[in-house]
Amino acid sequence: MTTQPVSFQTERLSLRPFSFGDVDDIVTYAGNPEVSRFIPSIPRPYGRRQAEEYLSRLTLMEWDSRPTFAILQSDRVIGAIDLNVRAAHGTAELGFVFGHEHWGQGLATEAGRAMLGYGFGRLGLTLLTARSDIRNKASHAVLRKLGMEQEGVLRGRVVQHGERLDVAHFSLFKGEWMAALKARQS
Ligand SMILES: CC(C)(COP(=O)(O)OP(=O)(O)OC[C@H]1O[C@@H](n2cnc3c(N)ncnc32)[C@H](O)[C@@H]1OP(=O)(O)O)[C@@H](O)C(=O)NCCC(=O)NCCS
Repeated sequence: MTTQPVSFQTERLSLRPFSFGDVDDIVTYAGNPEVSRFIPSIPRPYGRRQAEEYLSRLTLMEWDSRPTFAILQSDRVIGAIDLNVRAAHGTAELGFVFGHEHWGQGLATEAGRAMLGYGFGRLGLTLLTARSDIRNKASHAVLRKLGMEQEGVLRGRVVQHGERLDVAHFSLFKGEWMAALKARQS
């Protein structure tokens, strides 16, 4: 099934595909070393050129294989959330990032819930996964709030900003997500 780029709203956020007009907002959040601390794919230093390259890479990818949403609040892009889809396996890896000044308000959990709905619902995926640096406690808290279970830790799997790191892996099956939704509604 081919899916087209979409936009949607959550209680406090708008999610839509990125556009080249978002460069300055991307630099604002991704250029903060606190934000890139646990994300190997965000180069340092990070400026307009890096943000433009990121947007160019997105335009080269099929939406189906890498749905990537800009997250907006009050018309400013404050973060991003994406799924790295492996359609043949019915799986996708979830990734998310928010500007530092927006942390601690439950926004990643809110956007993450919307992405579970998109991945399991609209895309019909069977399993969503996520991985993050074992020191990234905020990310792990978000993944647990989304209902994901930690499956294990891969030792020394990633070199990030010059350091070799252990990476925690999380996952959630569609059936588990649906059961949790049902339990919340009853
Ligand atoms: C991870 C990130 C997206 C979280 O965003 P957020 O909007 O602050 O997340 P939420 O507010 O929904 O939830 C954060 C949770 O982490 C918890 N938390 C934050 N720092 C923590 C710490 N040092 N130790 C333990 N828990 C922590 C918060 O208490 C909260 O849990 P609670 O609601 O149960 O109290 C944000 O910190 C970020 O953008 N980090 C940089 C990018 C990144 O690491 N992305 C993840 C890569 S997989």
